[in-house]
Amino acid sequence: MRLEGKVAIVTGGAKGIGRAITTAYVGQGARVLVVDVDEAAGATLAADLGEAVTFLAADLSVEANASRIVEAAVAAYGRLDVLVNNAHASRQAPLLETTPEMWELSLGTGFWPVFWLMREAHPHLKESRGTIINFASGAGLRGNPTQGAYAAAKEAVRGISRVAANEWARDGINVNLISPLARTEGVDAFIAAHPEQEEALNNTNPMRRLGDPYDDIAPVAVFLASGDADYMTGQTLMVDGGAIMLR
Ligand SMILES: NC(=O)c1ccc[n+]([C@@H]2O[C@H](COP(=O)([O-])OP(=O)(O)OC[C@H]3O[C@@H](n4cnc5c(N)ncnc54)[C@H](O)[C@@H]3O)[C@@H](O)[C@H]2O)c1
Repeated sequence: MRLEGKVAIVTGGAKGIGRAITTAYVGQGARVLVVDVDEAAGATLAADLGEAVTFLAADLSVEANASRIVEAAVAAYGRLDVLVNNAHASRQAPLLETTPEMWELSLGTGFWPVFWLMREAHPHLKESRGTIINFASGAGLRGNPTQGAYAAAKEAVRGISRVAANEWARDGINVNLISPLARTEGVDAFIAAHPEQEEALNNTNPMRRLGDPYDDIAPVAVFLASGDADYMTGQTLMVDGGAIMLR
């Protein structure tokens, strides 16, 4: 078991990639505090995975919740080793039509909570010589049309991740990012609404398929949380079938 004894927080862990990461972490011996706004999905996950998971229903866009979340993890399991900032909500629109509410939704769920949780988790991760895993996106790296608010939040997260990697290496904390491509509920709903676009979606990378959250993305999150990645920090790992080849 590669994560035996470790304690993680996974935001947005009730569904999609976060659920897959939580499942993989528990399978490798970790205990996980899952935070999500979707109470029904969180309750199902906690029932499926048992005592190794504590579900906390909380809205990440409320700053006061960041300290609550970190305290809940430490109260439940006595320590904190891994912070996975996975949750992000956003809506698409051309840049000139992006409303203040759209900016607020994306930055309020995908940027500010990442910083608040990194700040609140820092003392505990310093003690455990722990790990932070944040999420980037090809939409941000490429600057996809209609993704202004989302791209801005994702690239801001990459920026502070590199700053934290530089500042906190001396504290024994490493900070890396995963930029995934995976078929989640959101992607399924999109394909159901636009079946003609499924082939184009699958063809966005040389492997000509969308990744699977469990088989393709979660194992990389296990690697980053394990001692095997101790000498890596500040890196964006493209887990996207080669869609973007960073140089
Ligand atoms: N799926 C992909 O192909 C893809 C591609 C690039 C980047 N990403 C990134 O990977 C991460 C996971 O993606 P996903 O597809 O699994 O997302 P998803 O939308 O399927 O899941 C996100 C989870 O976050 C939760 N959430 C949303 N707002 C919240 C809030 N305010 N407070 C608490 N929880 C909240 C949702 O309820 C949901 O369970 C995200 O950061 C996403 O931007 C995904």
